[in-house]
Amino acid sequence: MTITTDRPVGALEVSVPVAPSMSMFDPIYLGIDEFGAPVYIEVIYRNLLVGGEPGGGKSGLLNGICAHAAYSADTRLVLFDAKRVELGLWRDCADEFVGPNIKHALSVLRRLAVVMDNRYAWLDAHQRRKIVPSDGLTVITSVFDEIAFYSATTGTKAEQEEFSSLLRDIVARGRACAMPVIAATQRPSFDIIPTSLRDLFGFRAAFRCTTPNTSNIVLGHGWAEQGYSANDIDPTNQGAAYLLAEDGTPRRIKVAYLDDAQIIDIANHAAWIRRPQSVTA
Ligand SMILES: Nc1ncnc2c1ncn2[C@@H]1O[C@H](COP(=O)(O)OP(=O)(O)OP(=O)(O)O)[C@@H](O)[C@H]1O
Ligand SMILES: [Mg+2]
Repeated sequence: MTITTDRPVGALEVSVPVAPSMSMFDPIYLGIDEFGAPVYIEVIYRNLLVGGEPGGGKSGLLNGICAHAAYSADTRLVLFDAKRVELGLWRDCADEFVGPNIKHALSVLRRLAVVMDNRYAWLDAHQRRKIVPSDGLTVITSVFDEIAFYSATTGTKAEQEEFSSLLRDIVARGRACAMPVIAATQRPSFDIIPTSLRDLFGFRAAFRCTTPNTSNIVLGHGWAEQGYSANDIDPTNQGAAYLLAEDGTPRRIKVAYLDDAQIIDIANHAAWIRRPQSVTA
């Protein structure tokens, strides 16, 4: 079900998705662009990498996506939150909530890899290439805030490497089997996550970056030289970002922000909607 506003202006016509009939196969509302037009992205067959300086608005964006996912009856949430409190309000909506524990993170990622293998076996058996809504399989959305803690800060080197390679596997193969990844990190340089992992993310969102070089690391090489640098975002303009998605060129957006009280309301309602499924699962 969607509610359509009765505004006459065609280009800015907004349709507001209403729970619980939302789906991860639907475009996700992120906010508005420079002209005030709504911005949506479809992450289902892509993955989103979010970067930018502390306080830029990364977790705000992740929370918006979690709200959509929590209200999507066809979606399971797997949350990795090194700080516990950034995504913690969605804990009751998630199948798994991983805090600052690399061993827990690895065991969940290994399980996701098995699910992914099973889904590919199913696709193979049905001579299919990707999962579509009519298949009736749930989307498994994994959200990471933030990757650097698991890939470069905690645990042994072997554990960090295993984390990066398991995550790379899900980012690389998860798309077609409805297992998208949304991951945030302040600065995804090669010493934090392997370049081979970073480059697999199809969509990017760069919140304010301290240098054009860091902006390029988030958005991809060369965009700053072409005038798209998240370094030019005012430090007081939290929630402003450059989004590189379907249209292939970064565009300036302002992310819609849910405050804690709103998140608690949505999360409680979504958890209640989800309760029968989690009891039987
Ligand atoms: N879209 C937004 N609109 C308005 N204010 C925002 C928006 N996003 C974030 N803010 C403000 O900025 C603050 C910091 O945002 P957020 O926690 O998302 O940053 P972050 O990039 O995740 O930082 P860190 O790297 O430290 O985790 C929020 O508490 C909020 O006050
Ligand atoms: Mg954050």
